[in-house]
Amino acid sequence: MGKRIFLIGFMGSGKSTFGKKLAKELSLPFIDLDKEIEIKAKCSITDIFKYLGEDTFRKMESDCLHELSNRDEFVMATGGGAPCYFNNIEHINKKGTSIYIELDPQSIFNRLSNAKNIRPTIKDKKDDELMSFIKEKLAERETVYKQARYTLNGLSINVKEVADKLVTSNW
Ligand code: S3P
Repeated sequence: MGKRIFLIGFMGSGKSTFGKKLAKELSLPFIDLDKEIEIKAKCSITDIFKYLGEDTFRKMESDCLHELSNRDEFVMATGGGAPCYFNNIEHINKKGTSIYIELDPQSIFNRLSNAKNIRPTIKDKKDDELMSFIKEKLAERETVYKQARYTLNGLSINVKEVADKLVTSNW
């Protein structure tokens, strides 16, 4: 099993929750890319977007991803946009094993509508705007997400089963 595992997928797909559990199951360190960016920038993601803008955030995100992916072993939850800029999906696939956590727009909406405020790309959106944003962005990003080595259905993930498949290379 490759010991660098990258979880990719849309906001709200459960990358961090699943990532922590998978890391524990595989006895690997867990990395949350968004948290690492915040530590490095000494600033919240919300404030990076607000004061420095999205382009700067994407550059910081990509730099942080490249830096951290030199570590030998980890399970990393990436931000929803991380693989989609600067051809980062290629870098991810070169460095380790990528897993796409796939979720339908309605389930993403249900999860995000209660947690909008911590996410600058959706915080001011009304329900109908949020749904349109999810559908459009997901359609746009799916071609990237689908370049992951493996895909999991975000509604029915069994951590032990996934860990087993990774260890035995029996996906
Ligand atoms: C973003 C997703 C967020 C965070 C930032 C932008 C995106 O991460 O990186 O708010 O563009 O999809 P999560 O996917 O962990 O919410």
